[in-house]
Amino acid sequence: MTTHELIQKASCLTTSPNDLQSLSTHTSELVRAAVASNPNTNKITLLSLVGEKSNHVIEQLNKNESDFTDDSYEFTATKNSKLSIITTADAEFIISLRKNPKLNKHLSYVETDIDKQKDWINDYKKREARRTEFYFVIRCKNNERLGAIRAYDFKQGSFCWGSWIINPDSPRKTAIESAINIYEFGFNVLGFSQSHFDVRNNNSKVIDFHKRMGAKIISVNEVDTFFIMQKNYYVQSKADYKNFLITE
Ligand SMILES: CC(C)(COP(=O)(O)OP(=O)(O)OC[C@H]1O[C@@H](n2cnc3c(N)ncnc32)[C@H](O)[C@@H]1OP(=O)(O)O)[C@@H](O)C(=O)NCCC(=O)NCCS
Repeated sequence: MTTHELIQKASCLTTSPNDLQSLSTHTSELVRAAVASNPNTNKITLLSLVGEKSNHVIEQLNKNESDFTDDSYEFTATKNSKLSIITTADAEFIISLRKNPKLNKHLSYVETDIDKQKDWINDYKKREARRTEFYFVIRCKNNERLGAIRAYDFKQGSFCWGSWIINPDSPRKTAIESAINIYEFGFNVLGFSQSHFDVRNNNSKVIDFHKRMGAKIISVNEVDTFFIMQKNYYVQSKADYKNFLITE
């Protein structure tokens, strides 16, 4: 088929979701953009286009009227814990962590009033629906809440992650599993090729954590250290995490 025919197929309302999924990885951005704007493109394929580097594809994705709405969405690539999309039912848990003076030293202030926290989550839900931000509660496989983590600031094929906080009573490897899960989600579900994030300079334990995973420091200012993690580097080092990953 010519590219023109593929664009027509990707725009057609009778093309099957499976065919749209295959077309979503085509080398032509025009084909991918047509998939992004097709109302029949399914949730998984739309998610996989979020990390696109092409502005044209992102513009079409943003115009697609199908919202991401799934309050039971969960993701995991690891053995003991998972990421569950946040809901207002998690407001009290988030407040309990963010109020803990041992945990909030290096984080920005959040509302500790339950109704205001629920309002914040409801407002976030609008960004989630447009696939521009994903906020998760980190849970044990038995559903017990352990912490929180958020993917946001999506730009030019790179996603930021942060709002990272874990109850100190959690199983010891929760932090590394949650970092693996946010990379797996960002790189493999959303299709990003890079991650960027910043850590306060005085949060030396977390700076060491990221260095140990192989994140590269790209700049430092008076307050923060700025890191990137390339998908390629993460994929190459995945063998180091085989004890945590669910084997395929
Ligand atoms: C940031 C936070 C979530 C990290 O969690 P943590 O449990 O303190 O993380 P740790 O550095 O102790 O790492 C957890 C475990 O993973 C292990 N680990 C870390 N990196 C690893 C790697 N690359 N490979 C294998 N294991 C690794 C550590 O050795 C540790 O295991 P151990 O307890 O058996 O030694 C937590 O400290 C927290 O909530 N802090 C307050 C909020 C905050 O500062 N957030 C970050 C803002 S940028």
